[in-house]
Amino acid sequence: MDLSFIMTNKSNLSPSSRLQALLSATLTTPLRSSSGDILTNRSQMAKDPVRVLVTGAAGQIGYALVPMIARGIMLGADQPVILHMLDIPPAAEALNGVKMELIDAAFPLLKGVVATTDAVEGCTGVNVAVMVGGFPRKEGMERKDVMSKNVSIYKSQAAALEKHAAPNCKVLVVANPANTNALILKEFAPSIPEKNITCLTRLDHNRALGQVSERLNVPVSDVKNVIIWGNHSSSQYPDVNHASVKTSSGEKPVRELVKDDEWLNGEFITTVQQRGAAIIKARKLSSALSAASSACDHIRDWVLGTPEGTFVSMGVYSDGSYNVPSGLIYSFPVTCRNGEWSIVQGLPIDEVSRKKMDLTAEELKEEKDLAYSCLS
Ligand SMILES: NC(=O)c1ccc[n+]([C@@H]2O[C@H](COP(=O)([O-])OP(=O)(O)OC[C@H]3O[C@@H](n4cnc5c(N)ncnc54)[C@H](O)[C@@H]3O)[C@@H](O)[C@H]2O)c1
Repeated sequence: MDLSFIMTNKSNLSPSSRLQALLSATLTTPLRSSSGDILTNRSQMAKDPVRVLVTGAAGQIGYALVPMIARGIMLGADQPVILHMLDIPPAAEALNGVKMELIDAAFPLLKGVVATTDAVEGCTGVNVAVMVGGFPRKEGMERKDVMSKNVSIYKSQAAALEKHAAPNCKVLVVANPANTNALILKEFAPSIPEKNITCLTRLDHNRALGQVSERLNVPVSDVKNVIIWGNHSSSQYPDVNHASVKTSSGEKPVRELVKDDEWLNGEFITTVQQRGAAIIKARKLSSALSAASSACDHIRDWVLGTPEGTFVSMGVYSDGSYNVPSGLIYSFPVTCRNGEWSIVQGLPIDEVSRKKMDLTAEELKEEKDLAYSCLS
């Protein structure tokens, strides 16, 4: 099977369909040789590598994320990858150390590593960009100062991606403030379709699944369809009103099984909202392995699709669905097919949820205004 179309733009398919076709065709359908025989040995089929950029790759999320990508956790167990790792000059030596470790790990899927502090080199030809690099809030810094640093980083990286990434590159922003960084990136990369720019709220989504699973003592894989609405911050709204659990007598609503609305409307929500702070308190470092794993989940589901009947949370450009103001990057429930996400429509929203959804939208509007004030 000739898969070179993903890199060379030969096919008539749209670029995103190409990436989708590349990945899903080989993962979900029987593999046949040109003579029609089913290929049992996947190594008989050479797939072209997909280029994945990780910015901030010398940091702690980067350190957890790059081996996951190189092992096929993000794009599939038979999808070769070329890793592009970008960081800033003070981190160049550490970045080179990560590159050395990637070489030493001898990952069979890893077909190349670009480790650089040059944004143009880092962004050139990438099909997927995971933006983890950013400026953290330091003691004594005003919110506006942190925002200002990140706005200028995301403005310049937007320009590099727009000019040098592969057509239809999919972008996931992880660095905080994730929603607003993604919005700035979108504004300054106008030729990248807004559908291709997202931010990570999957970690919050997974945290909500984890809390329900712990509470009910069921495998986390049996819980689905929690929703994170809004900002990746403590104003987010983790919503279980549409969530269900697989049981021996079919799928049951989470509320029916938990039988404790006080917990679901109170401690559950604050635990998910505050989980990042709890991890920092326990580890003296912010979440890294769970953030890296969730970034892989986000891209995998986006590219390969969500399972039938399951939705996940993604920070995406609001089109006004659920009366969320358009022009914000807001976390919604989405399903993914053919490399495209769509917001799940028609879920009933009760009054309590409405208020919480509006509150987090309000915070995002303020962040947006702050970000724009940093630009002027
Ligand atoms: N969205 C989420 O769910 C989520 C979860 C956890 C952490 N985060 C955020 O992810 C980011 C990274 O977290 P971390 O723990 O890896 O931080 P870290 O400080 O360990 O690493 C950040 C890395 O980014 C690099 N960097 C800074 N400016 C850069 C630039 N202009 N270009 C490229 N690289 C640059 C730094 O040198 C560093 O290596 C933080 O902003 C954190 O708040 C988001």
